[in-house]
Amino acid sequence: MRIETDPGSLTADALAALIEWYQANGVDTAIDEVAIDRFAAPPPEQVFAPAPAPAFESPTADAAAFSARAPSAGPTFAPAPPRAPETPDLDIEAARIAAASAETLDQLRETLGRFEGCSLRLTARSLVFADGNPAARIMLVGEAPGREEDLQGVPFVGRSGQLLDRMLAAIGLDREQVYIANVVPWRPPGNRTPTPEETAICRPFVRRQIALVDPDFLICLGGAAAKELLDTREGILRLRGQWLGFDTGKRTIRAMATLHPAYLLRQPLQKRLVWRDLLALKSALASETR
Ligand code: URA
Repeated sequence: MRIETDPGSLTADALAALIEWYQANGVDTAIDEVAIDRFAAPPPEQVFAPAPAPAFESPTADAAAFSARAPSAGPTFAPAPPRAPETPDLDIEAARIAAASAETLDQLRETLGRFEGCSLRLTARSLVFADGNPAARIMLVGEAPGREEDLQGVPFVGRSGQLLDRMLAAIGLDREQVYIANVVPWRPPGNRTPTPEETAICRPFVRRQIALVDPDFLICLGGAAAKELLDTREGILRLRGQWLGFDTGKRTIRAMATLHPAYLLRQPLQKRLVWRDLLALKSALASETR
C-alpha cells in the first residue's frame, strides 16, 4: 500500500483519522520512524557495485572511512527493525539463569521486566505477566498477548479474554479461582506468531512461573501453548481433552489442552468440544481436593 499524501500536509483530524484507519486494518505497530515499502523494486542506483575497500587502520579510521564513502544525497535507509540474534543460545542461557534466580512470582515479574534478551520487548508497550489468583489450583496458559492485552498489561482482556471469562463462568469459575499467563509475555508486533527463537527465550520464564504458582491443573489454551508445554507435535484437535502429566520440577501435575478462545470466536460450533473439556476440569477439581 502506498500513501502518496505528505503527512505534513494533513490536519490533526485527518492524521488521527488516518491512524485510526491503519489500526482498523491491523497496522498498529510502528517499528521504524520511516515506513518501508517492502514490495517496491529497488531503484537502479541502489543495486550497488561493491565500493572499493578503504584501507582501514583502526575502528575510528573505519568509521571515518565509512562516513567519507556515504553519499551526501541519495537513497536514505530506515534503521533495520530490531531482530533477535540468529543464534539466540546466549539469550536462552541468560533467560534460564534469570528465571531460575527468581524465588517468588514478584521477583520473576521484576526479572522479566529487566530482561533484555528477547527483542519482542522492544516493540511491545507492556510486559503482560499474569492475571488472576497466584494461589489458584488452576493455571491457564495462552500463546501471547494481543493488542488489548498489550495496552492494558493484562492477559486475555480482549474479545477472546471475554469469551474465556464466559467459558470459566459456565463451570462456576472466575478470575479469582484461576491464574492466567502466556507462553510469551510480550505482544509480537502485529499479532504475528512468536518465532521459535522468541519462544525458546521465553520458555524458562513461563516454566518458572508454573513452578512458582504450583497449580494442581494446567490448562493450555490452544495448539501453540500445548506444543510448547506438553512437548508434543500432535494437532490440537486430537490432543484436546486428554489429561496428561506436566512436570513442574517439584511434582507432576495434571495438564490438559483445549481450544483457544480466539479459535472459538472464528469456529463457534467447536464450543461443544470445549464444553466437554470444561466439564472434565470441573469434575477433576471436585474429585481431587487439596
Ligand atoms: N491470546 C492469547 O493467547 N493470550 C492473550 O493474553 C490474549 C489473546
